[in-house]
Amino acid sequence: MKNPLWVLIIALLAVPLIGTAAPQQEKEGPLPWAYAGNAPPNVIAYPLSDKSLKHVPGSDLSFTIDQIRNPFGPADWHPSDHGPMPDIVAHGKEPGVNACALCHLPNGKGRAENAPVSGLPVEYFVQQMMDFKNGLRRSAEPRKGNTIRMAAFAKAMTDDEIRAAAEYFGSIPWTPWIKVVETNTVPKTRVLSDGLYLKIEGNQTEPIGNRIVEVPENTEATAVLRDDHSPFIAYAPIGSIKKGEALVTTGGGGKTVQCEICHGAHLEGIGPVPPIAGHSPSYIARQLYDMQHGTRKGLWSGLMQRAVEKLTSEDIVAICAYISSRPVPAAAKGASGEAPVAPAAKAAVRAGESVAAPITQRIQ
Ligand code: HEC
Ligand code: HEC
Repeated sequence: MKNPLWVLIIALLAVPLIGTAAPQQEKEGPLPWAYAGNAPPNVIAYPLSDKSLKHVPGSDLSFTIDQIRNPFGPADWHPSDHGPMPDIVAHGKEPGVNACALCHLPNGKGRAENAPVSGLPVEYFVQQMMDFKNGLRRSAEPRKGNTIRMAAFAKAMTDDEIRAAAEYFGSIPWTPWIKVVETNTVPKTRVLSDGLYLKIEGNQTEPIGNRIVEVPENTEATAVLRDDHSPFIAYAPIGSIKKGEALVTTGGGGKTVQCEICHGAHLEGIGPVPPIAGHSPSYIARQLYDMQHGTRKGLWSGLMQRAVEKLTSEDIVAICAYISSRPVPAAAKGASGEAPVAPAAKAAVRAGESVAAPITQRIQ
């Protein structure tokens, strides 16, 4: 005989049982392919005992591994690529600020686990440093140690140091750095403790699923030698670029907002709104997710609200595949001409406007 009370009790008891699925999710954290929140601690790519001199193609210089990864003066393999590096970029400031060139590389290309910083508008760069400083820019993945360190560096820097770094990286044009390849299967990977995925030795593969797998083309050149001429490859699910194109260019019927309104017809950036074409898909995914979850809530982040609020993890994969695959416009700044919407977007950003709705309405 069925007693309704028992049905209720059983139903209530079932709730915590359903809830036990959560710890697995927590272990993995948000978008594991982008944040690598479950990266094991203390896994590094280089043997600390190796004291030999290393070389990379196209450079006459040689460095030991200790010199290459010196946090207060890492190797600069190709000094003729760029103008004089400000001291803060080349050496940082002891004890609290590592050289920017350590993680972002001397040419600002960055790696998948941090951020591309060359070719950014100076005003945008400075604003991000202020947002880090003021605790308005954090990672949605609390285990992402390099973002925590980045914020600590910003806090320890003077306005002059911030501006010098912004002007230096801003003067280096962004050029192609990541090749996006659609595929069903990807090389098996391992992850370093800072969140950089690497192909494992051998030719083992696995299904791609709903993720992007962004790895150095040459593991040793990127992970050990930090060669800022050695690019990345990003594997994306088949069909994702086209899906992303539809979302980015049409807004997907209200799911998001056309990105070109603010980021420019070629996603090359407009005024202080940052360029995104050809940037790291892992980095872009983290930013979209952080803004969606309110951990990146800087002075200008509100302008992104309507673009991110309804995105699913599938949408994020598609958008990142498309944006990263976009060609980097030649002479991205200025030469391509400004879209007619530029002044409105610029003015709104200048005014620190934080609500996306009015500005997009005005622009349309
Ligand atoms: C330990 C590695 C590391 C070092 C050293 C480092 N950064 Fe970063 N930086 C990061 C990471 C990681 C991010 C991405 C943070 C996030 O959003 O999760 C980042 C992001 C940034 C951004 C935001 C880029 C954008 O498109 O919004 C700027 C600007 C920046 N860094 C400037 C600097 C400057 C200037 C220095 C030198 C003083 C520096 N960084 C040193 C790791 C580092
Ligand atoms: C209404 C204007 C507006 C629209 C539309 C817009 N963006 Fe943005 N976007 C911005 C602004 C402003 C920022 C800087 C946010 C900040 O400072 O936190 C930004 C930042 C970003 C960033 C972070 C860049 C970096 O270097 O950290 C990404 C990625 C991005 N937008 C992607 C998109 C995508 C994808 C779309 C379309 C689906 C889009 N945006 C639509 C204004 C806009």
